[in-house]
Amino acid sequence: MRIFTKLSAPLCLLFVFFCLKTAFSSSIHASSFSTTHLCSHEEALALLQFKTSFSIDYTVWENYCGQNYSKMESWKEGIDCCSWDGVSCDNVTGHVIALNLSCSFLYGTFRSNSTLFFLKNLQSLNLSWNDFRHSKIPSEISQFTRLKHLDVSFSQFSGQVPEEIAHLPKLVSLNLSSSDFYDDSLELILETTTFKNLVHNLSEVRELVLGGVNMASANPRFFMNLSSSLTTLDLSNSVLRGNFPNSIFRFPNLKNFFLSGSENLTIDLPSSNWSSPLQQLYLHDMDCGRRLPESIGDLKSLQSLSLVYNNFRGQIPSSLANLTQLTSLSLSNNQFSGVLPPWIFTLPLLEDLYPNHNKFQGQINQFSQKSLIHLDLSNNKLQGSIPNSIANLVNLSYLDLSSNHFSDFVELDMFLALQNLETIILSSNNLSLRMNVDANFTLPKLTDVFLSSCNLSEFPNFLRHSNGLQSLVLSKNSIHGNIPEWICEKDDLKILDLSHNNLIGKIPNRLPKFLSVLNLQANYFDGNIPFGFPEGCGLQNLNLHGNQMEGLLPRSLVNCSMLEVLDVGNNNISDTFPHWLESLPDLQVLVLRSNKFHGFVQSTKESPSFPKLRVLDLSSNDFRGPLPVRYIENFKAMMDIYRDEGSPEYMNIGSYQYSLVVTLKGFDYELQRILTIFSSIHLSNNMFEGEIPDVIGKLSSLKGLNLSHNNLTRHIPPSLGTLTDLEWLDLSSNELVGKIPDELGNQFNTFGNGSYEGNNGLCGIPLSKSCDGIGTPPSFFQEKDEFWRFGWRVVVLGYGCGVFVGLEMGYHVFRAGKPKWFVSLFDGRPSQSGRKMRKARRLVQRRS
Ligand SMILES: *[C@@H]1O[C@H](CO)[C@@H](O)[C@H](O)[C@H]1NC(C)=O
Ligand SMILES: *[C@@H]1O[C@H](CO)[C@@H](O)[C@H](O)[C@H]1NC(C)=O
Ligand SMILES: *[C@@H]1O[C@H](CO)[C@@H](O)[C@H](O)[C@H]1NC(C)=O
Ligand SMILES: *[C@@H]1O[C@H](CO)[C@@H](O)[C@H](O)[C@H]1NC(C)=O
Ligand SMILES: *[C@@H]1O[C@H](CO)[C@@H](O)[C@H](O)[C@H]1NC(C)=O
Ligand SMILES: *[C@@H]1O[C@H](CO)[C@@H](O)[C@H](O)[C@H]1NC(C)=O
Ligand SMILES: *[C@@H]1O[C@H](CO)[C@@H](O)[C@H](O)[C@H]1NC(C)=O
Ligand SMILES: *[C@@H]1O[C@H](CO)[C@@H](O)[C@H](O)[C@H]1NC(C)=O
Ligand SMILES: *[C@@H]1O[C@H](CO)[C@@H](O)[C@H](O)[C@H]1NC(C)=O
Ligand SMILES: *[C@@H]1O[C@H](CO)[C@@H](O)[C@H](O)[C@H]1NC(C)=O
Ligand SMILES: *[C@@H]1O[C@H](CO)[C@@H](O)[C@H](O)[C@H]1NC(C)=O
Ligand SMILES: *[C@@H]1O[C@H](CO)[C@@H](O)[C@H](O)[C@H]1NC(C)=O
Repeated sequence: MRIFTKLSAPLCLLFVFFCLKTAFSSSIHASSFSTTHLCSHEEALALLQFKTSFSIDYTVWENYCGQNYSKMESWKEGIDCCSWDGVSCDNVTGHVIALNLSCSFLYGTFRSNSTLFFLKNLQSLNLSWNDFRHSKIPSEISQFTRLKHLDVSFSQFSGQVPEEIAHLPKLVSLNLSSSDFYDDSLELILETTTFKNLVHNLSEVRELVLGGVNMASANPRFFMNLSSSLTTLDLSNSVLRGNFPNSIFRFPNLKNFFLSGSENLTIDLPSSNWSSPLQQLYLHDMDCGRRLPESIGDLKSLQSLSLVYNNFRGQIPSSLANLTQLTSLSLSNNQFSGVLPPWIFTLPLLEDLYPNHNKFQGQINQFSQKSLIHLDLSNNKLQGSIPNSIANLVNLSYLDLSSNHFSDFVELDMFLALQNLETIILSSNNLSLRMNVDANFTLPKLTDVFLSSCNLSEFPNFLRHSNGLQSLVLSKNSIHGNIPEWICEKDDLKILDLSHNNLIGKIPNRLPKFLSVLNLQANYFDGNIPFGFPEGCGLQNLNLHGNQMEGLLPRSLVNCSMLEVLDVGNNNISDTFPHWLESLPDLQVLVLRSNKFHGFVQSTKESPSFPKLRVLDLSSNDFRGPLPVRYIENFKAMMDIYRDEGSPEYMNIGSYQYSLVVTLKGFDYELQRILTIFSSIHLSNNMFEGEIPDVIGKLSSLKGLNLSHNNLTRHIPPSLGTLTDLEWLDLSSNELVGKIPDELGNQFNTFGNGSYEGNNGLCGIPLSKSCDGIGTPPSFFQEKDEFWRFGWRVVVLGYGCGVFVGLEMGYHVFRAGKPKWFVSLFDGRPSQSGRKMRKARRLVQRRS
């Protein structure tokens, strides 16, 4: 009964305690809480009850926490609670004063009657990285009147932050970063009154972290009334609107300021007097004006400056040269132009330099600092040769010079001194890489090597001793000969892309054990596809397109249960339809075109087949019989693709993008990236016969359908008219008859005569041959045809300047008036509403 007399809590809590007591009294012996225990009986009970109100789920943030046990495993009766993991007590009073339950795999609703609120003496509470299943933050939080540190970040709280959060006047740090990457409606909302009170009441707050919190209703002006003790303000990916007060740059103690991804927020960078002692400044993905003022050089203490995804133009201010404390400078994805100033390569402490994705041009200076660790100059217009002083950058771990206009011959020995190099990306320049035949050097730490389009004529043998190699991309060179033994022995290797070379011979039997991507497209390999794919084969992308492979498809491919892309197009494979692949759960792209596949295409079973297939290309084979109705009925992924226009996503593994050859109007185009919403069916140039099944109308997310050059008969089913996403349709050269359904004529007015030609029995709009003998005005067709040709002209023009741009441009033209985000694909900038991507990106940045 002593317990009850001590309590001054409300009635409901009395009830809680009653339950607690009944729950535990039977098992707690008097001796359990002997006087040697610092921790009080009540607080121990409260903690134990708190523990039982959640389940422990080891899948909660499992990859983020770097631990595989819950602290609560050590919470047991009979042991002094002050010695439990995550619990800290005042060493005189025995009160629990700090609770660190971060990464405890807690899963369940956080209730307002939680017994945690008994711990009235708490000064620090860390609940980050749990999953409270979108609970609201209970208003009872205000009972922790002594709280100084509150961290509920990444714990899946959502809804409105209670106004009681402003009743914690002692708070020194508050972290409400929210974490739902999938559903913005589940974010935390900080309303204007609560925010105003918080600013007003939290007079001692030094660190305020509101990443991802929705403050759309709050006036950003209130930020200027924050306590002048503020040292950290983190507003990454918060939803804010209006104009952010630039007086923030004059806060006397502000060291870290992060502001990003608020699409409706502007900030006018001050033209003078940035007096804050800022050490880290991140302004990402928002409207900061077009000029970065010279006055930014006032921030003499700056160590890390990141200004990515803004609209900055013009030259980088020369005053940055004065920021000699800088260790990290990120300017990527703006429109900066001019030459890269010489001082950028002399800043004495600089470790990370990211001017990538801008319009910098001209030659680059010699490097004089040795501190650089990450250097990314990619996607600019830099030219000239690579300075030989690069050999001085002995700490360099990441080097990306790709997609510039660097030219000249490069002796690979040049990189010999860079013994810490892990990633080297030189692709897409005008470089000619050469190897000194006598050179015997190795870069032992290399993991990722991207040397596409580098005029290599032989394999870079120095890689032979790089044992940690994970990605080797040597596509679009003129390497000849066989695949060397040593490559086949690199069992860490995950990505091997040797496409577009002059390789010959047989594909080796033994391939690296843990390969995820094998791309040998466009070479001269011949013989059978030899490999017996072992049980547990981890291949995700197998591309043998455009070789001279013969024989059968190895049945052991079914062992590759993670297979997403199988492309054996343009070979001489002679086999029947591989229906045995239909159970592969992740297969998305199956390309068998231009081979000698033959026979009927038929499902062998009733159960779901090819559940994720989005691209099926069987064209130019000897398939016969009816169209594969049962498969079509089951192409779930073409019926119902999750559409989020905000964030185009591509198939990839890490930074390696999958590519795909598609054939449109007889031309092959290489899509250098595969949009995850791209779906098409190509069955042309076979001997399919019978009618087009009505069920094809169910494939509602289909973008392209080509059934041309078959022997299809009877009518076009009206259900085709429901395919509103269709962008190209080719039914030409069949034996189709009857009126083109109105649904098609009206819906797809971009499909001109050509789509249907060679079907002498067809009539009606949009064909000039009318069904009732009354002609339609010829201008109508010319117009449509013009549009059609215009579309194709863009594709073909684009082909010359870069294949994928061409195709995406074409895609864009077809979609005129459709989602805007396609525009954003061209310059590498994410869409305006791609918050999800940004969140994910930010998380990755945080964790790294
Ligand atoms: C808290 O309230 C919920 C219902 O809202 C109830 O199921 C639960 O038993 C209560 N917990 C305690 C400890 O009283
Ligand atoms: C947790 O990880 C450690 C090593 O980090 C390992 O020894 C231990 O077996 C793991 N425990 C469980 C339950 O997986
Ligand atoms: C109690 O903690 C304070 C600081 O928190 C420390 O200075 C003091 O030495 C501790 N006393 C004992 C007896 O451990
Ligand atoms: C809190 O717990 C986490 C996870 O176990 C640990 O990484 C962190 O260092 C702890 N923080 C404090 C202040 O003890
Ligand atoms: C809470 O714990 C996490 C570790 O998971 C740690 O990173 C964070 O700094 C802690 N929060 C506070 C306020 O100490
Ligand atoms: C400030 O906090 C106190 C409790 O500490 C509370 O009573 C008061 O209402 C708060 N003021 C505002 C403006 O929220
Ligand atoms: C939350 O913010 C506080 C204050 O800046 C910080 O110390 C803590 O590490 C953050 N928590 C996490 C999980 O990052
Ligand atoms: C913010 O501060 C300004 C000047 O310091 C003051 O005029 C204004 O009333 C304050 N606003 C709030 C909401 O406290
Ligand atoms: C930004 O403003 C536009 C136009 O008012 C609105 O459609 C959009 O939803 C806003 N974005 C956010 C994140 O509030
Ligand atoms: C660097 O700082 C000095 C002293 O503050 C100033 O005189 C000079 O103009 C600055 N240099 C540049 C390039 O801004
Ligand atoms: C090349 O160097 C490696 C290791 O540094 C050594 O094992 C090998 O024998 C050398 N080969 C030649 C031909 O010198
Ligand atoms: C097309 O199919 C019809 C029967 O539907 C058949 O009579 C005809 O011979 C076929 N044509 C060709 C070229 O196979």
